[in-house]
Amino acid sequence: MKAIIPAAGLGTRFLPATKAVPKEMLLVVDRPAIQYVVEEGLASAADEVIIVNSREKHAIEEHFSPNPDLVSLLRERGKNAYADAVEYVGNLNVGYVYQDEALGLGHAVLCAAEAAAGEPFYVLLGDVLVPGNQMLPAMQAVSDAHGGASVIAVMPVPDEEVSRFGVIAGSEVSEGVWKVDALVEKPALEDAPSNLAVFGRYLLTPRVMELLAQVQPGVGGEIQLTDALDALLVEEEMYALVVDPADGFDTGTVPSWLETNNTLFAQR
Ligand code: G1P
Repeated sequence: MKAIIPAAGLGTRFLPATKAVPKEMLLVVDRPAIQYVVEEGLASAADEVIIVNSREKHAIEEHFSPNPDLVSLLRERGKNAYADAVEYVGNLNVGYVYQDEALGLGHAVLCAAEAAAGEPFYVLLGDVLVPGNQMLPAMQAVSDAHGGASVIAVMPVPDEEVSRFGVIAGSEVSEGVWKVDALVEKPALEDAPSNLAVFGRYLLTPRVMELLAQVQPGVGGEIQLTDALDALLVEEEMYALVVDPADGFDTGTVPSWLETNNTLFAQR
C-alpha cells in the first residue's frame, strides 16, 4: 500500500522564501516539513511513500537520497547523532512521480495511479503535519469496520472558514464517524452542507484513480480530488472520521508555519 504526497505546488504563499527552496523543505523545528509527512506515511502501514514532485524541486529528492560521504565524514568527526539522522532519512522508502502541469490536487494524485498499482492508497497533504502518526491507523480501523470503504479525515471548522475547504454532507453512524452522502469543494457558506471540512488525510479505494481520469475541471479550473470522491459515492460507501483539530499542525501559511514551529518546539 502506498502513501501519496502531492508536492508539486509553487509555494506561492511563502515567496520569496520558496523561490529556490521548495515549501516542503522549510524547516519545522529540526526537519523539513515533508519529512514529518513521509514518516507519518511509513509509520502507518504504507510500504512506500510516493511524492508527486515537480521536476524543478531537486532538494526534496536530495533530502531523501543516501549520502554515504557525508555520513562517513560526520562519523570521522565523532558526530554520530548527526550521521545517524542523515543515514536514517536517506534510507526512508520514498519514490517519485512527476506532475508537469499544475492542474490541481486530483491531477497530482492521478499522476501516482500506476505507482498505486490498483490497491487502496493513502493521500497525505503536506500543509498539515500529524506528528503523533495516529490518524491514518484510526482511519484504517474505520475502513476495516466498513468493508474496506474509503475514509477521509474531517474536522469541524467555523462558518467563516468553510469556503476554504472541501466539505461533507452526511450523517453520524457511530461516535465521530459519519457516512458521507456528498462532498463539495470550497462551497460558499450558504451552500455548505455542514461544517465538517476535509482535513488532508485520505484512505481511498483504487476506483478513485479511475474516476480521477474522468472528472472535469472544477473549482478554480482544477481537477479536484473532492469531485472524484463525490462521484465515487454513486458506486461505493465512504466514511469520514472526525478528527481533533489539535492533532494536526498547519504549515500552509507563514503565520501558521511559525505557530507550528513554536508549538512543536515547546513540546520537545
Ligand atoms: C485541499 C482540498 C480540500 C481540503 C484541503 C485541506 O484544498 O482540495 O478539499 O479541504 O486541501 O487542506 P487546498 O488547500 O489545496 O486548496
